[in-house]
Amino acid sequence: MKNISTYVNQHKDRFLEELIDLLKIPSISADSAYKKDVLHTAEVVKTRLEEAGCDHVEICETAGYPIVYGEKIIDKDLPTVLVYGHYDVQPPDPLNLWNSPPFEPVIKKTELHPEGAIFARGACDDKGQMYMHVKALEFMTKTNQLPCNVKFMIEGEEEVGSSNLAIFVKENQEKLKNDVILISDTGMIAKDVPSITTGLRGLSYVEVEVTGPNRDLHSGLYGGAVANPINVLAKMIASLHDENNHITIPGFYDKVEELSKEERAEMAKAPFSLEAYKKSLDIDAVYGEAGYTTNERNSIRPTLDVNGIWGGYTGEGAKTVIASKAYAKISMRLVPHQDWENITQLFKTHFESIAPKGVKVEVKPHHGGQGYVTPIDSIGYQAASKAYFDSFGKTPIPQRSGGSIPIVSLFEQELKSKTILMGFGLDSDAIHSPNEHYGLFNYYKGIETIPLFYKYFTELSE
Ligand code: BES
Ligand code: MN
Ligand code: MN
Repeated sequence: MKNISTYVNQHKDRFLEELIDLLKIPSISADSAYKKDVLHTAEVVKTRLEEAGCDHVEICETAGYPIVYGEKIIDKDLPTVLVYGHYDVQPPDPLNLWNSPPFEPVIKKTELHPEGAIFARGACDDKGQMYMHVKALEFMTKTNQLPCNVKFMIEGEEEVGSSNLAIFVKENQEKLKNDVILISDTGMIAKDVPSITTGLRGLSYVEVEVTGPNRDLHSGLYGGAVANPINVLAKMIASLHDENNHITIPGFYDKVEELSKEERAEMAKAPFSLEAYKKSLDIDAVYGEAGYTTNERNSIRPTLDVNGIWGGYTGEGAKTVIASKAYAKISMRLVPHQDWENITQLFKTHFESIAPKGVKVEVKPHHGGQGYVTPIDSIGYQAASKAYFDSFGKTPIPQRSGGSIPIVSLFEQELKSKTILMGFGLDSDAIHSPNEHYGLFNYYKGIETIPLFYKYFTELSE
C-alpha cells in the first residue's frame, strides 16, 4: 500500500485533535446522568464515519443506547470486513486519583511513551482504538486504496454488557453479513513486541445480598448473639477458594478446557518478566491458582473475584453497629466451553447452600457472556500477521487475553464469521482505572497497520 506512513505523518495533528474532541464527551453508559453525552457521542461518531468515506451511515435505535452503523460497499463480489468497536466508556471514579480531569484530555510524556500519551477516560478503551479504524478508512478512501467492502458497527453499551447489541445482531443478519470481523479493543505484549489476541475469557457477573436482623443493631447490646451479615458474607466469600486457590463451587471446573503440554509450552515462549510484572504493581509476590504460571492464571484459567463489597458504617470516625445487610459484587472470568448461564446457576445454588442459619441470602445475576478462541490458521489471522510484520518488522505472537468482550462469541454464533482481535493497547494503559492513557505511538501505529490488514485479507481471499 502506498504512502501510509506519509499520510499518517501529514495528518497526525488533526488525527489527534479529532480523538481529543471525542474524548471530551463523557459517554459513561453505566450512569444515566450522562445519557445526553452518550447520545451525542453516537452523533459525533456518525459524522466522523461520513467524513471518512462511508457512503451510508445511520444511527440504529435500540432499547438502550444506539448503534452507529456505517458502510462502504464497492463491489459485492469482494470480501467485506465488519469493524466493531464501542463509543461508551467506564465511569472515571475515583476522581481524586486522576492527575488531570478524565474528560479533559492532555498529552503527557512518560517513561514508556517518550513521544507522548493521551490521558483521558476512553483513550485506549475504546475510543482511541475504535477511532484508528475510522482514520484507516479515511486513508484508504482518500488515496483510492480501499480494496474491499467495509461495514462499521460501533455500539454504546459494551461496558454494560451489550444486551441490546445482541438483539440487534440477531435481527440484522443480512445487513451485517461479512467475511471477517475486525476489532481493536484488546492489547499487545509491548510496543516492540506485537501480538494478536487469540482468546477472550467469558464472564458471569453477580451481586449478592446477605440479610440478618430486620434493622441495624447496637453492636454492644446484640453483638455476639446474632449473625452479623458482614462477618457472614466475608466468611462465605473466603470459602469460595480452597488453600490451593481453586474455586470450591461444585461443578465449576467440569467444562474447563485443559490445554495440552505442548500448548502450554508454546504459551510460555511469549516474553514475560515476573520481576518487571511485580515491580510494575508494587507487589512482592504474585498470588493465584496452584500449578499455573501468572500468564496462565490470567488467561486460560477461570477465576472468581470480588469487585466491590459494602455494608455497615464506612463514614468518618467509628460507629458501633451491626448492619442489617451486607453486599458484594462478584465476577467470574470463564474459559472456553464453560457456559456463563450454567456457571451463574452453579454459583447461585452453592452460595445459597453455604449460608448459615440466621441470615437470608439473595443472588442477583447481572450479565455475562461466553469466552472465545480464534484459530491462527484462518485467512483473517494470516492477513493480520502479515500486516503487523509490515508495520512492526516482526511477526506478531498469538496470545490469549484475560479480558472479555462477551459479544464476540455471539458474532460467531449469529454471523458465522471469525473475529480478528488487533489490539494496540498495553497493560500499563490503565484501562478502567484512574489516569487511563493511550500511547501516541500505539495510536498512529494502529492506523498504519489496519489498512495492511484490508490489503492482505482481500489478497488472501481471492
Ligand atoms: N476492551 C475491554 C476488554 C479487554 C481489554 C479485553 C483488554 C482484552 C484486553 C472491554 O471494554 C471490557 O472492559 N470488557 C469488560 C466486560 C464487559 C461485559 C463489561 C471486562 O472485560 O471487564
Ligand atoms: Mn473495550
Ligand atoms: Mn472496557
